[in-house]
Amino acid sequence: MCGIVGYVGNKNAQDFLISGLKRLEYRGYDSAGIVTLDTDGGATLLRAKGKISNLEEKLAENKREDKIGIGHTRWATHGEPSEANAHPHRAGAIYLVHNGIIENYKELKEHLTEHEFKSETDTEVLAALVNSFYAEGKYPLTNAVVQALKLVKGTYGIAVVSTKNPEEIVVARSGSPLVIGVGHDETLIASDASALVGHTKQAIYLNDGEVARITKNSVEIKTLNAEPVSAKVEEIETNLAAIQKGGYEHFLLKEIMEQPLSLAETLRGRVNLEQGTVRLGGPGLSEAELRKIKHLIIVGCGTAYHAGLLASYYIEQFTPEITVETVIASEYRYRNAYIPEDSVALIVSQSGETADTLACLREIKKQGTKTIGIVNAIGSTIAREVDGGTYVHVGPEISVASTKAFTSQVIAMVMFGLTIAQAKGAKPGTLRPYVEEIAKLPEMIGKTLQSVDKKVQKISKKYKNYEHAIYLGRDIAYPTAMEGALKLKEISYVDANAYAFGELKHGPLALIDDRFFELALVPEGALYDKAISNVQEVLARGGHMIVVTNTDFALEVDDVIEIPGEIKLFAPILMNLVSQLFAYYMTTAKGYNVDQPRNLAKSVTVE
Ligand code: G6P
Repeated sequence: MCGIVGYVGNKNAQDFLISGLKRLEYRGYDSAGIVTLDTDGGATLLRAKGKISNLEEKLAENKREDKIGIGHTRWATHGEPSEANAHPHRAGAIYLVHNGIIENYKELKEHLTEHEFKSETDTEVLAALVNSFYAEGKYPLTNAVVQALKLVKGTYGIAVVSTKNPEEIVVARSGSPLVIGVGHDETLIASDASALVGHTKQAIYLNDGEVARITKNSVEIKTLNAEPVSAKVEEIETNLAAIQKGGYEHFLLKEIMEQPLSLAETLRGRVNLEQGTVRLGGPGLSEAELRKIKHLIIVGCGTAYHAGLLASYYIEQFTPEITVETVIASEYRYRNAYIPEDSVALIVSQSGETADTLACLREIKKQGTKTIGIVNAIGSTIAREVDGGTYVHVGPEISVASTKAFTSQVIAMVMFGLTIAQAKGAKPGTLRPYVEEIAKLPEMIGKTLQSVDKKVQKISKKYKNYEHAIYLGRDIAYPTAMEGALKLKEISYVDANAYAFGELKHGPLALIDDRFFELALVPEGALYDKAISNVQEVLARGGHMIVVTNTDFALEVDDVIEIPGEIKLFAPILMNLVSQLFAYYMTTAKGYNVDQPRNLAKSVTVE
């Protein structure tokens, strides 16, 4: 979603702002803008609807040598995507960029009669509010920002500059991330550390309720109540290679193909093959605490929710006396659900910033339930607020559609389930097959990607003109089918939905006609014969069926994609690679933007 960058130092601010915004493009946006300040009280404001390349066209005619500025990519919430609604917004000497939502903006606006509003945004209201304190000259910029924020309800990450003092940037956060990069004679800001990579490795993550005054050589942080905060400088671990395409045409393909490595990173130091056990340090639960767990709640959105759902099937298979409930964060946060004693909640999020997931985490914590994060982004808000956690360590995931994070989230949660089962004294031998397959998975993911790539590419082209798709699966293949359908609809805009095979005859069967194709995940196992009968039901009604399987498939269907048979328990993880590639190749065949699908954002920081 929206992105913020800022620069104060000795170098060209426009250059950093544009390159920083490009790094944040992956988050999803529909307009962009920058403002830089000169030393004579002047400002150069450039804004454009659409891609950053449109902004660059304007920049070509407005090149400046300014050394301070702020920039923004906007994902429309209040007011359509347009140049007038793009940030930075101006009020008097002030320019402001904002991520988040000011909920009481209408109320605040009524009192700001002096300001002539030029946009429909809540952000301009905030700019005018800051200016109402600043313009009188009573408050320096930081204090004017603080006064304004005390009146605001909602979420924000903001950066503010003033033409009256072109040496400082004021930033603040509440519910929307902000990172300060500390360089030599320069200070940078960004809503996401990836914009800082290559410029500095030293970062200060601002906490909710904090405001900072930044110059090229200083960072002063305090709370909204004026208590000073001593800044904790942390190391940015990401390197430049991790945020580049590395020879691939799209980030999505790169991220699909790097799963052997990214999963290996998730497993590093956590699997003991000799003993047939796993060990996770991060959750910080003692053996006694693990033994006591009776209920697991898994919370996530989108792909993270599907990962939780799939993990729950596994955890139930091997963990005695435990219930697992996987919930959609945007629903759960308002459900007023009772959480029984001896529960632990797994909070699953690639970005660690998803607003609904974060809200659930806070609700669950209020009830005194232990929360464990299954997070990728290091230092993210969710990672910082959970009681303990396991990073999945897949590196930056840039493409909006989540792929490598899913695979590692599932396995990280399964490993957490295994640690519970180990502590509860699962029957000897029951866990070893899971551990052995987990250890083999990175290699088998590599083999599967290699063996199916060309075939999937060919088949996906054949189906590219279909308007509708039905993904089907039973048991562990059902959440996998849900994730496959999500991938297809996210990037190729095919109306794709998933159903449990057993539900077909309760409705979806009525849909089958020539506008639909069906993709069935049929792993070997106890329910194989039942799945075969379901495939036949579809074929008998004129379906156009692709089957993904790890067995010799005898039935005549339109297309069969076979994956290697060595992996049994985790076959759905390998089948999901087929779904990922299928969505990727269909989207490139249609000529759509693979990495930044329309209307979607990578990190959904608003409700
Ligand atoms: C957005 C992304 C999805 C992601 C979901 C949850 O919708 O486009 O790819 O699965 O948010 O994100 P999280 O960062 O919490 O895993």
